[in-house]
Formats: sequence, C-alpha cells, structure tokens
Amino acid sequence: MGVYDRFIGPALIACACSAGPISRQREKVVPLASGEVLELGMGAGANLPFYNKAQVTGVFAVEPNEFMRRRALAVAAETDLPVTLVEGVGESLPYEAGRFDCVVCTYTLCTVHDVAKTLAEARRVLKPGGRFLFCEHGRAPDEDVYRWQRWIEPLWKPIGGGCHLTRRPAAAIRDAGLNTRWQEQFYLPGTPRPMGWTEWGEATV
Ligand SMILES: C[S@@+](CC[C@H](N)C(=O)[O-])C[C@H]1O[C@@H](n2cnc3c(N)ncnc32)[C@H](O)[C@@H]1O
Repeated sequence: MGVYDRFIGPALIACACSAGPISRQREKVVPLASGEVLELGMGAGANLPFYNKAQVTGVFAVEPNEFMRRRALAVAAETDLPVTLVEGVGESLPYEAGRFDCVVCTYTLCTVHDVAKTLAEARRVLKPGGRFLFCEHGRAPDEDVYRWQRWIEPLWKPIGGGCHLTRRPAAAIRDAGLNTRWQEQFYLPGTPRPMGWTEWGEATV
C-alpha cells in the first residue's frame, strides 16, 4: 500500500466525513443506538460524539485502516464511552452470533469489498430483534445523475479509498433479509449530486 492509500487518502476521507451536512446525517441515526453496539468501519471515529451515553453500554468496532484506527482511538479517549476497536473487516466479523443489540453502519457500504457478505455478517451478529442503523450514499434515482456517477466512479474510487458511487445500500439491506422499519432519502445539501444521494434508516433482524 502506497503513501496515498495509507495516509493522504484516509486524512482526506476523515476530513470529508466530518463535514457539516454529513454530521447532521449522523445526528439522525447514531443517537438511536442502544445497548451493545457494533460499528462497521469506524473510520476516524466521527460517530462517537453522537452516541447517547445513557443508553449505550459499549461500542465495538472493526476498521481495517491503521491510520483511521489511530484517529478513532484518539477521539474515543475524549469520550467516556467504552470503545473496543479492532483491526478487521465487515465481511468477517470476529464476534459470535447474536452478540449485539445494534449495528451502526455509516458511509461504509460504499467502500467494503463485498456488500452482501458484510450485511450477512451484520445480520449474524445481531440479536433476534436487533437493529441495523444505517446512513449511506449511493446510486441516484435520476438517470442523468446516475450517468454522471458511472462516468466519475472509476476516477473517484482510487481517490476515495475504494468508495463506489453506484451501489444501492437500502436495496442491499433488504436483499440481505433485514426488515426495513423506516427509511428516508435525499440529495445531501451542499454536495454535488453524484456524491450526494443519501439513504438512511433502521432495519431489524
Ligand atoms: C468513508 S469511510 C467512513 C468511515 C465511518 N464509517 C464514518 O462514518 O465516518 C469508509 C471506511 O470504511 C473502511 N473500510 C474499508 N473496507 C472495509 C471493510 N471491508 N470492512 C469494514 N470497513 C472497511 C475504510 O477504512 C474507511 O474507514
């Protein structure tokens, strides 16, 4: 892995992930988490300030990138949340079945190698009735925006650490057998439309 993928890319992604409109999306989803929580691809820990400490008993997370893990641990040290962060990927979670009350997945399904495997793993580690809270960007419903996404994606992926623009997160969550309780979607304000189509909500096992 080169210097860009190890340091520069992650630093840019961490910066983009703390932008105002994205933080407002986190506010819509992360405070709903409760009990034992697993975050998929914690990145630089941008969700940590948004957890409701009164209802979360522990935050566990996997994150493959070392630079991101170091940043996330620094953020974790400033919260009084019990955070356990390990090197790992969503496709192969190091936890027993039925371990968690909630899985939180924000801006990660765009980047994982295998969306279906990651969601199958999330489903496996959730308790019966457990909740999958998500906020993801993906394929726009408008044909002209989708055309732009298809053109941009091959250039965007290497810059964005493997981020895809044309995945369909809410559909993938349904296809994984999770039951969507509620879902909302829009073009993220202040963001170019090809990068801005956002889907968020809650699904259960
Ligand atoms: C755009 S960042 C989002 C980080 C964080 N979820 C957030 O909301 O700020 C995507 C993250 O997914 C991580 N990632 C990449 N491949 C992954 C995989 N297979 N499983 C889990 N996380 C992965 C990246 O290292 C990166 O930290």
